[in-house]
Amino acid sequence: MDAAEFRRRGKEMVDYVADYVENIEKRQVYPDVEPGYLRPLIPDEAPEEAENYEDVVKDIERVIMPGVTHWHSPYFYAYFPTAQSFPAMLADMLSGAIGCIGFSWAASPACTELETVMLDWLGKMLKLPEDFLAGTGGKGGGVIQGTASEATLMVLLAARSKIVKLIQADHPDQSEADITSKLVAYTSDQAHSSVERAGLIGGVRMKKILSDDKFSVRGDALQRIIEEDRAKGLIPFFFCATLGTTPSCAFDCITELGPVCNAEKIWMHIDAAYAGSAFICPEFRPLLNGVEFADSFNFNPHKWLLVNFDCSTLWVRKRSDLIGAFKMEPLYLKHDHQESGLVTDYRHWQIPLGRRFRSLKLWFVFRMYGLKGLQAYIRKHIELAKEFESLLKADQRFEISADVVLALVCFRLKGSNELNETLLKRINSTRKIHLVPCQLADKFVLRFAVCARTTESRHIQEAWSHICHLASELLQELPH
Ligand SMILES: Cc1ncc(COP(=O)(O)O)c(C=O)c1O
Repeated sequence: MDAAEFRRRGKEMVDYVADYVENIEKRQVYPDVEPGYLRPLIPDEAPEEAENYEDVVKDIERVIMPGVTHWHSPYFYAYFPTAQSFPAMLADMLSGAIGCIGFSWAASPACTELETVMLDWLGKMLKLPEDFLAGTGGKGGGVIQGTASEATLMVLLAARSKIVKLIQADHPDQSEADITSKLVAYTSDQAHSSVERAGLIGGVRMKKILSDDKFSVRGDALQRIIEEDRAKGLIPFFFCATLGTTPSCAFDCITELGPVCNAEKIWMHIDAAYAGSAFICPEFRPLLNGVEFADSFNFNPHKWLLVNFDCSTLWVRKRSDLIGAFKMEPLYLKHDHQESGLVTDYRHWQIPLGRRFRSLKLWFVFRMYGLKGLQAYIRKHIELAKEFESLLKADQRFEISADVVLALVCFRLKGSNELNETLLKRINSTRKIHLVPCQLADKFVLRFAVCARTTESRHIQEAWSHICHLASELLQELPH
Protein backbone atom coordinates (compact mmCIF):
# COMPACT_ATOMS: atom_id res chain seq x y z
CA MET A 1 0.00 0.00 0.00
CA ASP A 2 1.52 3.31 -1.02
CA ALA A 3 0.62 6.77 0.29
CA ALA A 4 -1.92 7.37 -2.49
CA GLU A 5 -3.79 4.17 -1.69
CA PHE A 6 -3.49 4.87 2.04
CA ARG A 7 -5.20 8.24 1.50
CA ARG A 8 -8.12 6.52 -0.21
CA ARG A 9 -8.35 3.53 2.13
CA GLY A 10 -7.88 5.73 5.17
CA LYS A 11 -10.90 7.82 4.19
CA GLU A 12 -12.91 4.64 3.64
CA MET A 13 -11.88 3.35 7.04
CA VAL A 14 -12.87 6.61 8.72
CA ASP A 15 -16.30 6.22 7.07
CA TYR A 16 -16.54 2.63 8.24
CA VAL A 17 -15.62 3.63 11.80
CA ALA A 18 -18.07 6.57 11.83
CA ASP A 19 -20.84 4.28 10.51
CA TYR A 20 -19.98 1.65 13.10
CA VAL A 21 -20.16 4.14 15.94
CA GLU A 22 -23.28 5.93 14.65
CA ASN A 23 -25.22 2.71 14.11
CA ILE A 24 -23.82 0.62 16.92
CA GLU A 25 -27.12 0.26 18.74
CA LYS A 26 -28.55 -1.66 15.79
CA ARG A 27 -26.01 -4.39 16.44
CA GLN A 28 -26.66 -7.03 19.09
CA VAL A 29 -24.61 -5.96 22.08
CA TYR A 30 -23.33 -9.44 22.93
CA PRO A 31 -22.32 -11.94 20.24
CA ASP A 32 -23.97 -15.31 19.60
CA VAL A 33 -20.77 -17.19 18.83
CA GLU A 34 -19.44 -20.27 20.61
CA PRO A 35 -15.79 -20.77 21.63
CA GLY A 36 -13.63 -21.62 18.62
CA TYR A 37 -15.96 -19.87 16.17
CA LEU A 38 -13.19 -17.95 14.41
CA ARG A 39 -10.58 -20.55 13.40
CA PRO A 40 -12.71 -22.24 10.72
CA LEU A 41 -13.50 -18.86 9.15
CA ILE A 42 -9.92 -18.08 8.13
CA PRO A 43 -7.05 -20.11 6.61
CA ASP A 44 -4.73 -22.14 8.82
CA GLU A 45 -1.70 -20.18 7.71
CA ALA A 46 -0.77 -16.64 6.77
CA PRO A 47 -1.00 -15.99 3.00
CA GLU A 48 2.10 -16.61 0.92
CA GLU A 49 1.18 -13.89 -1.56
CA ALA A 50 -0.20 -10.45 -0.75
CA GLU A 51 -3.99 -10.18 -0.82
CA ASN A 52 -6.33 -7.45 -1.98
CA TYR A 53 -7.32 -4.80 0.53
CA GLU A 54 -10.97 -5.27 -0.52
CA ASP A 55 -10.80 -8.91 0.57
CA VAL A 56 -9.37 -7.95 3.95
CA VAL A 57 -12.11 -5.37 4.50
CA LYS A 58 -14.85 -7.81 3.50
CA ASP A 59 -13.71 -10.11 6.29
CA ILE A 60 -14.31 -7.50 8.97
CA GLU A 61 -18.07 -8.12 8.82
CA ARG A 62 -17.72 -11.85 8.07
CA VAL A 63 -15.05 -12.84 10.61
CA ILE A 64 -14.66 -10.14 13.22
CA MET A 65 -17.96 -8.39 13.87
CA PRO A 66 -19.93 -11.59 14.63
CA GLY A 67 -17.57 -12.15 17.56
CA VAL A 68 -17.42 -8.61 18.91
CA THR A 69 -18.93 -7.60 22.24
CA HIS A 70 -19.94 -4.02 21.52
CA TRP A 71 -18.58 -2.17 24.54
CA HIS A 72 -19.66 1.14 23.05
CA SER A 73 -23.26 0.13 22.50
CA PRO A 74 -25.69 2.08 24.69
CA TYR A 75 -27.05 -1.34 25.70
CA PHE A 76 -23.73 -2.30 27.31
CA TYR A 77 -23.92 -1.96 31.11
CA ALA A 78 -21.28 -4.48 32.17
CA TYR A 79 -17.99 -4.11 34.10
CA PHE A 80 -16.96 -0.45 34.05
CA PRO A 81 -16.84 1.73 30.94
CA THR A 82 -13.94 1.78 28.56
CA ALA A 83 -13.57 5.16 26.93
CA GLN A 84 -13.94 6.04 23.29
CA SER A 85 -14.10 9.36 21.50
CA PHE A 86 -13.38 10.65 18.01
CA PRO A 87 -10.56 13.00 19.10
CA ALA A 88 -8.84 10.15 20.95
CA MET A 89 -9.15 7.86 17.93
CA LEU A 90 -7.63 10.52 15.68
CA ALA A 91 -4.78 11.07 18.13
CA ASP A 92 -4.16 7.31 18.21
CA MET A 93 -3.88 7.35 14.45
CA LEU A 94 -1.27 10.09 14.62
CA SER A 95 0.57 8.21 17.35
CA GLY A 96 0.68 5.18 15.05
CA ALA A 97 2.06 7.31 12.24
CA ILE A 98 4.79 8.93 14.32
CA GLY A 99 5.41 5.46 15.72
CA CYS A 100 8.18 6.50 18.08
CA ILE A 101 9.28 4.52 21.11
CA GLY A 102 9.61 7.20 23.76
CA PHE A 103 11.66 5.43 26.40
CA SER A 104 13.93 8.43 26.95
CA TRP A 105 13.77 12.14 26.29
CA ALA A 106 16.22 11.74 23.42
CA ALA A 107 14.23 8.88 21.88
CA SER A 108 11.54 11.44 21.05
CA PRO A 109 11.52 14.69 23.04
CA ALA A 110 7.92 15.61 22.17
CA CYS A 111 6.65 12.23 23.36
CA THR A 112 8.26 12.71 26.76
CA GLU A 113 7.60 16.43 27.23
CA LEU A 114 3.93 16.34 26.19
CA GLU A 115 3.33 13.49 28.64
CA THR A 116 4.87 15.41 31.55
CA VAL A 117 2.80 18.51 30.77
CA MET A 118 -0.44 16.54 30.18
CA LEU A 119 -0.04 14.81 33.51
CA ASP A 120 0.33 18.24 35.10
CA TRP A 121 -2.80 19.50 33.26
CA LEU A 122 -4.76 16.49 34.43
CA GLY A 123 -3.33 16.72 37.95
CA LYS A 124 -4.53 20.33 38.09
CA MET A 125 -8.00 19.32 36.84
CA LEU A 126 -8.13 16.87 39.76
CA LYS A 127 -6.74 19.48 42.15
CA LEU A 128 -4.00 17.07 43.20
CA PRO A 129 -1.61 18.44 45.83
CA GLU A 130 1.20 20.39 44.14
CA ASP A 131 3.76 17.82 45.32
CA PHE A 132 2.43 15.42 42.70
CA LEU A 133 3.06 17.78 39.81
CA ALA A 134 6.32 17.98 37.89
CA GLY A 135 6.14 21.55 36.66
CA THR A 136 6.13 23.19 40.06
CA GLY A 137 9.75 22.36 40.74
CA GLY A 138 8.54 19.74 43.21
CA LYS A 139 9.78 16.21 43.65
CA GLY A 140 6.75 14.48 42.18
CA GLY A 141 5.35 13.88 38.74
CA GLY A 142 3.11 11.77 36.58
CA VAL A 143 3.47 9.03 34.01
CA ILE A 144 1.13 7.15 31.68
CA GLN A 145 1.05 3.43 32.38
CA GLY A 146 -0.81 0.90 30.26
CA THR A 147 -3.20 -0.19 32.99
CA ALA A 148 -4.06 0.29 36.64
CA SER A 149 -2.68 -3.20 37.25
CA GLU A 150 0.76 -2.12 36.02
CA ALA A 151 0.58 1.08 38.06
CA THR A 152 -0.17 -0.84 41.27
CA LEU A 153 2.58 -3.35 40.59
CA MET A 154 5.06 -0.61 39.80
CA VAL A 155 4.44 1.30 43.04
CA LEU A 156 4.36 -1.87 45.12
CA LEU A 157 7.79 -2.80 43.73
CA ALA A 158 9.07 0.71 44.40
CA ALA A 159 7.75 0.60 47.97
CA ARG A 160 9.36 -2.81 48.46
CA SER A 161 12.69 -1.58 47.18
CA LYS A 162 12.48 1.52 49.39
CA ILE A 163 11.81 -0.38 52.62
CA VAL A 164 14.52 -2.95 51.88
CA LYS A 165 17.10 -0.17 51.34
CA LEU A 166 15.93 1.62 54.48
CA ILE A 167 16.29 -1.47 56.67
CA GLN A 168 19.60 -2.44 55.13
CA ALA A 169 20.96 1.04 55.84
CA ASP A 170 20.60 0.29 59.57
CA HIS A 171 21.17 -3.47 59.36
CA PRO A 172 23.62 -4.16 56.54
CA ASP A 173 23.81 -7.80 57.66
CA GLN A 174 20.17 -8.46 56.70
CA SER A 175 19.72 -9.93 53.25
CA GLU A 176 17.04 -8.75 50.85
CA ALA A 177 15.46 -12.21 50.97
CA ASP A 178 15.26 -12.11 54.79
CA ILE A 179 13.59 -8.71 54.77
CA THR A 180 11.21 -9.53 51.91
CA SER A 181 10.03 -12.67 53.68
CA LYS A 182 8.76 -10.46 56.54
CA LEU A 183 7.12 -7.76 54.42
CA VAL A 184 3.37 -7.39 54.47
CA ALA A 185 1.11 -5.27 52.25
CA TYR A 186 -2.57 -4.50 52.79
CA THR A 187 -5.64 -3.77 50.77
CA SER A 188 -9.39 -3.98 51.12
CA ASP A 189 -11.41 -7.17 50.77
CA GLN A 190 -13.19 -5.18 48.04
CA ALA A 191 -10.02 -4.27 46.10
CA HIS A 192 -9.62 -5.28 42.47
CA SER A 193 -7.93 -8.64 41.89
CA SER A 194 -5.01 -6.80 40.26
CA VAL A 195 -3.92 -5.59 43.72
CA GLU A 196 -3.69 -9.11 45.09
CA ARG A 197 -1.90 -10.06 41.89
CA ALA A 198 0.64 -7.27 42.39
CA GLY A 199 1.45 -8.91 45.74
CA LEU A 200 1.86 -12.30 44.07
CA ILE A 201 4.11 -10.93 41.34
CA GLY A 202 6.03 -8.80 43.83
CA GLY A 203 6.60 -11.84 46.05
CA VAL A 204 5.12 -10.24 49.19
CA ARG A 205 2.24 -11.13 51.50
CA MET A 206 -0.93 -9.19 50.70
CA LYS A 207 -3.52 -9.15 53.47
CA LYS A 208 -7.11 -8.16 52.86
CA ILE A 209 -8.70 -5.88 55.43
CA LEU A 210 -12.34 -6.38 56.25
CA SER A 211 -14.45 -3.52 54.92
CA ASP A 212 -17.39 -2.08 56.88
CA ASP A 213 -21.12 -2.22 56.05
CA LYS A 214 -20.56 0.43 53.33
CA PHE A 215 -17.80 -1.75 51.80
CA SER A 216 -15.24 0.81 52.91
CA VAL A 217 -11.99 0.21 54.83
CA ARG A 218 -11.65 2.35 57.97
CA GLY A 219 -8.52 3.62 59.70
CA ASP A 220 -8.95 1.61 62.90
CA ALA A 221 -9.18 -1.67 60.96
CA LEU A 222 -5.82 -0.94 59.31
CA GLN A 223 -4.25 0.23 62.58
CA ARG A 224 -5.32 -2.98 64.33
CA ILE A 225 -3.87 -5.33 61.76
CA ILE A 226 -0.60 -3.38 61.57
CA GLU A 227 -0.17 -3.69 65.33
CA GLU A 228 -0.92 -7.42 65.25
CA ASP A 229 1.54 -7.96 62.41
CA ARG A 230 4.32 -5.92 64.02
CA ALA A 231 3.85 -8.00 67.20
CA LYS A 232 4.40 -11.13 65.04
CA GLY A 233 7.68 -9.70 63.72
CA LEU A 234 6.30 -8.81 60.29
CA ILE A 235 7.14 -5.56 58.49
CA PRO A 236 4.10 -3.62 57.18
CA PHE A 237 5.21 -1.50 54.19
CA PHE A 238 2.36 -0.84 51.72
CA PHE A 239 -1.35 -0.13 51.69
CA CYS A 240 -3.46 0.14 48.56
CA ALA A 241 -6.68 2.08 49.12
CA THR A 242 -9.48 1.96 46.58
CA LEU A 243 -11.66 4.89 45.64
CA GLY A 244 -14.52 3.38 43.65
CA THR A 245 -14.29 -0.37 44.21
CA THR A 246 -15.08 -2.67 41.31
CA PRO A 247 -18.01 -4.52 42.90
CA SER A 248 -19.98 -1.53 44.20
CA CYS A 249 -18.01 1.71 43.72
CA ALA A 250 -17.34 2.07 47.45
CA PHE A 251 -14.72 4.47 48.83
CA ASP A 252 -12.09 3.59 51.41
CA CYS A 253 -11.87 6.23 54.11
CA ILE A 254 -8.52 7.74 53.11
CA THR A 255 -8.82 10.69 55.51
CA GLU A 256 -8.52 8.08 58.31
CA LEU A 257 -6.22 5.66 56.51
CA GLY A 258 -3.75 8.29 55.33
CA PRO A 259 -2.66 9.43 58.80
CA VAL A 260 -2.27 5.78 59.89
CA CYS A 261 -0.02 5.07 56.89
CA ASN A 262 2.02 8.24 57.43
CA ALA A 263 2.49 7.56 61.16
CA GLU A 264 3.46 3.92 60.47
CA LYS A 265 5.74 4.91 57.53
CA ILE A 266 3.75 2.75 55.12
CA TRP A 267 3.47 3.67 51.43
CA MET A 268 -0.15 4.57 50.65
CA HIS A 269 -1.23 4.06 47.06
CA ILE A 270 -4.69 5.04 45.86
CA ASP A 271 -6.34 3.03 43.10
CA ALA A 272 -9.20 5.08 41.66
CA ALA A 273 -9.21 3.29 38.29
CA TYR A 274 -12.87 4.06 37.52
CA ALA A 275 -13.90 6.80 39.94
CA GLY A 276 -10.89 9.05 39.36
CA SER A 277 -12.40 10.70 36.30
CA ALA A 278 -15.29 12.06 38.39
CA PHE A 279 -12.89 14.03 40.60
CA ILE A 280 -12.57 16.67 37.86
CA CYS A 281 -16.06 17.83 38.95
CA PRO A 282 -15.93 20.07 42.05
CA GLU A 283 -18.96 18.32 43.54
CA PHE A 284 -17.16 14.92 43.44
CA ARG A 285 -13.68 16.18 44.35
CA PRO A 286 -14.35 15.74 48.13
CA LEU A 287 -14.25 11.99 47.46
CA LEU A 288 -10.51 12.45 46.87
CA ASN A 289 -9.91 14.31 50.15
CA GLY A 290 -7.08 12.54 51.94
CA VAL A 291 -4.95 12.25 48.80
CA GLU A 292 -2.58 14.64 50.54
CA PHE A 293 -1.45 11.66 52.70
CA ALA A 294 -0.77 9.41 49.69
CA ASP A 295 2.56 8.49 48.13
CA SER A 296 0.97 7.62 44.80
CA PHE A 297 -2.35 7.97 43.01
CA ASN A 298 -3.65 6.30 39.87
CA PHE A 299 -6.76 6.31 37.73
CA ASN A 300 -7.73 5.30 34.20
CA PRO A 301 -8.71 8.08 31.78
CA HIS A 302 -9.21 5.09 29.47
CA LYS A 303 -12.20 4.11 31.56
CA TRP A 304 -14.31 7.22 31.88
CA LEU A 305 -12.51 10.27 30.50
CA LEU A 306 -13.06 9.76 26.77
CA VAL A 307 -9.47 8.64 26.13
CA ASN A 308 -9.31 5.30 24.31
CA PHE A 309 -7.44 2.39 25.92
CA ASP A 310 -4.63 2.40 26.97
CA CYS A 311 -4.04 5.36 29.23
CA SER A 312 -3.69 4.86 32.97
CA THR A 313 -2.28 7.89 34.74
CA LEU A 314 -0.05 7.50 37.79
CA TRP A 315 1.35 10.28 39.97
CA VAL A 316 3.98 9.90 42.67
CA ARG A 317 4.84 12.35 45.41
CA LYS A 318 8.57 11.56 45.20
CA ARG A 319 9.59 10.49 41.74
CA SER A 320 13.00 9.36 43.00
CA ASP A 321 11.22 6.50 44.84
CA LEU A 322 10.05 5.13 41.52
CA ILE A 323 12.95 6.03 39.28
CA GLY A 324 15.56 5.06 41.82
CA ALA A 325 14.13 1.61 42.38
CA PHE A 326 15.10 -0.11 39.13
CA LYS A 327 17.55 2.08 37.23
CA MET A 328 19.54 0.45 34.44
CA GLU A 329 21.88 2.50 32.29
CA PRO A 330 23.22 0.58 29.30
CA LEU A 331 25.38 2.65 26.99
CA TYR A 332 23.00 2.40 24.04
CA LEU A 333 20.23 4.18 25.99
CA LYS A 334 22.37 7.03 27.31
CA HIS A 335 22.04 10.55 25.95
CA ASP A 336 23.60 13.97 26.51
CA HIS A 337 20.79 15.50 28.55
CA GLN A 338 20.00 12.77 31.03
CA GLU A 339 22.07 14.15 33.87
CA SER A 340 20.91 17.73 33.29
CA GLY A 341 17.95 17.43 35.67
CA LEU A 342 15.76 19.02 33.01
CA VAL A 343 14.44 15.91 31.32
CA THR A 344 12.53 12.78 32.21
CA ASP A 345 13.43 9.35 30.91
CA TYR A 346 10.17 7.48 31.33
CA ARG A 347 11.77 4.07 30.91
CA HIS A 348 12.72 4.29 34.61
CA TRP A 349 9.07 4.83 35.58
CA GLN A 350 7.66 1.60 34.15
CA ILE A 351 8.27 -2.10 33.60
CA PRO A 352 8.71 -2.22 29.79
CA LEU A 353 11.28 -0.21 27.93
CA GLY A 354 9.10 0.73 24.97
CA ARG A 355 6.21 3.15 25.17
CA ARG A 356 3.82 4.69 22.65
CA PHE A 357 3.02 8.37 22.22
CA ARG A 358 -0.11 8.08 24.37
CA SER A 359 -0.18 11.64 25.65
CA LEU A 360 -1.43 12.77 22.21
CA LYS A 361 -4.78 11.23 23.13
CA LEU A 362 -4.95 13.28 26.31
CA TRP A 363 -3.96 16.45 24.47
CA PHE A 364 -6.56 16.04 21.74
CA VAL A 365 -9.34 15.11 24.17
CA PHE A 366 -8.60 17.90 26.67
CA ARG A 367 -8.55 20.49 23.89
CA MET A 368 -11.57 19.22 21.97
CA TYR A 369 -13.84 18.82 25.02
CA GLY A 370 -12.40 21.34 27.44
CA LEU A 371 -12.75 20.79 31.17
CA LYS A 372 -16.39 21.86 30.95
CA GLY A 373 -17.18 19.29 28.26
CA LEU A 374 -15.53 16.52 30.26
CA GLN A 375 -17.39 17.52 33.42
CA ALA A 376 -20.69 17.57 31.52
CA TYR A 377 -19.98 14.07 30.23
CA ILE A 378 -19.33 12.67 33.72
CA ARG A 379 -22.39 14.43 35.14
CA LYS A 380 -24.62 13.07 32.41
CA HIS A 381 -23.63 9.47 33.13
CA ILE A 382 -24.25 9.98 36.83
CA GLU A 383 -27.67 11.48 36.11
CA LEU A 384 -28.52 8.45 33.96
CA ALA A 385 -27.49 6.14 36.79
CA LYS A 386 -29.68 8.15 39.19
CA GLU A 387 -32.56 7.79 36.73
CA PHE A 388 -32.11 4.01 36.79
CA GLU A 389 -31.87 4.10 40.58
CA SER A 390 -35.15 6.00 40.88
CA LEU A 391 -36.90 3.45 38.63
CA LEU A 392 -35.66 0.69 40.92
CA LYS A 393 -36.71 2.56 44.05
CA ALA A 394 -40.25 2.87 42.75
CA ASP A 395 -40.54 -0.90 42.28
CA GLN A 396 -41.03 -2.77 45.56
CA ARG A 397 -39.79 -6.05 44.08
CA PHE A 398 -36.21 -4.77 43.89
CA GLU A 399 -33.63 -3.59 46.40
CA ILE A 400 -30.58 -1.39 45.91
CA SER A 401 -27.50 -3.08 47.31
CA ALA A 402 -25.03 -0.19 47.70
CA ASP A 403 -25.08 3.61 47.72
CA VAL A 404 -25.20 5.01 44.20
CA VAL A 405 -22.40 7.57 44.24
CA LEU A 406 -21.28 7.65 40.60
CA ALA A 407 -22.65 5.86 37.51
CA LEU A 408 -22.90 2.33 38.91
CA VAL A 409 -26.11 0.89 40.35
CA CYS A 410 -25.97 -2.40 42.27
CA PHE A 411 -29.39 -4.00 42.63
CA ARG A 412 -31.23 -7.29 43.06
CA LEU A 413 -34.68 -8.75 43.31
CA LYS A 414 -35.70 -9.18 46.95
CA GLY A 415 -35.22 -12.91 47.37
CA SER A 416 -32.65 -15.63 47.05
CA ASN A 417 -29.31 -15.61 45.26
CA GLU A 418 -30.63 -18.33 42.93
CA LEU A 419 -33.49 -16.07 41.89
CA ASN A 420 -31.08 -13.29 41.01
CA GLU A 421 -28.69 -15.62 39.22
CA THR A 422 -31.60 -16.79 37.05
CA LEU A 423 -32.66 -13.21 36.38
CA LEU A 424 -29.15 -12.28 35.24
CA LYS A 425 -28.90 -15.39 33.06
CA ARG A 426 -32.15 -14.48 31.35
CA ILE A 427 -31.13 -10.85 30.88
CA ASN A 428 -27.86 -11.81 29.27
CA SER A 429 -29.21 -14.70 27.21
CA THR A 430 -31.68 -12.44 25.42
CA ARG A 431 -28.63 -10.37 24.32
CA LYS A 432 -30.60 -7.10 24.36
CA ILE A 433 -28.53 -5.58 27.14
CA HIS A 434 -25.40 -6.85 28.85
CA LEU A 435 -24.69 -6.84 32.60
CA VAL A 436 -22.29 -8.63 34.95
CA PRO A 437 -22.83 -9.58 38.61
CA CYS A 438 -20.89 -9.06 41.80
CA GLN A 439 -21.02 -10.44 45.30
CA LEU A 440 -21.73 -8.03 48.14
CA ALA A 441 -21.66 -9.52 51.62
CA ASP A 442 -23.13 -12.92 50.78
CA LYS A 443 -25.51 -11.64 48.19
CA PHE A 444 -25.52 -12.16 44.43
CA VAL A 445 -26.01 -8.69 43.01
CA LEU A 446 -26.51 -7.30 39.50
CA ARG A 447 -24.32 -4.37 38.46
CA PHE A 448 -25.69 -1.74 36.10
CA ALA A 449 -22.88 0.57 34.98
CA VAL A 450 -23.62 3.39 32.56
CA CYS A 451 -20.85 2.84 30.05
CA ALA A 452 -21.31 4.09 26.50
CA ARG A 453 -20.67 7.67 25.44
CA THR A 454 -23.94 7.68 23.51
CA THR A 455 -26.22 6.37 26.29
CA GLU A 456 -29.37 8.47 26.62
CA SER A 457 -32.38 8.39 28.90
CA ARG A 458 -34.35 6.36 26.34
CA HIS A 459 -31.78 3.55 26.57
CA ILE A 460 -32.06 3.52 30.36
CA GLN A 461 -35.85 3.35 30.09
CA GLU A 462 -35.62 0.52 27.54
CA ALA A 463 -33.15 -1.39 29.68
CA TRP A 464 -35.41 -0.97 32.69
CA SER A 465 -38.56 -2.18 30.84
CA HIS A 466 -36.63 -5.18 29.61
CA ILE A 467 -35.37 -6.05 33.11
CA CYS A 468 -38.90 -5.53 34.53
CA HIS A 469 -40.45 -7.77 31.91
CA LEU A 470 -37.98 -10.60 32.57
CA ALA A 471 -38.35 -10.15 36.34
CA SER A 472 -42.17 -10.36 36.08
CA GLU A 473 -41.96 -13.55 34.02
CA LEU A 474 -39.55 -15.06 36.50
CA LEU A 475 -41.59 -14.13 39.56
CA GLN A 476 -44.75 -15.54 38.00
CA GLU A 477 -43.05 -18.89 37.56
CA LEU A 478 -42.27 -19.13 41.28
CA PRO A 479 -44.62 -21.30 43.36
CA HIS A 480 -47.03 -19.08 45.32
C1 LIG B 1 -10.79 -0.40 41.04
C2 LIG B 1 -10.08 -1.06 39.90
N1 LIG B 1 -8.75 -1.19 39.95
C3 LIG B 1 -8.06 -1.77 38.94
C4 LIG B 1 -8.71 -2.22 37.81
C5 LIG B 1 -7.91 -2.85 36.73
O1 LIG B 1 -7.76 -1.97 35.67
P1 LIG B 1 -6.74 -2.21 34.47
O2 LIG B 1 -7.46 -3.05 33.47
O3 LIG B 1 -6.43 -0.83 33.96
O4 LIG B 1 -5.56 -2.90 35.02
C6 LIG B 1 -10.10 -2.08 37.70
C7 LIG B 1 -10.81 -2.55 36.51
O5 LIG B 1 -11.99 -2.40 36.35
C8 LIG B 1 -10.80 -1.49 38.77
O6 LIG B 1 -12.13 -1.35 38.75
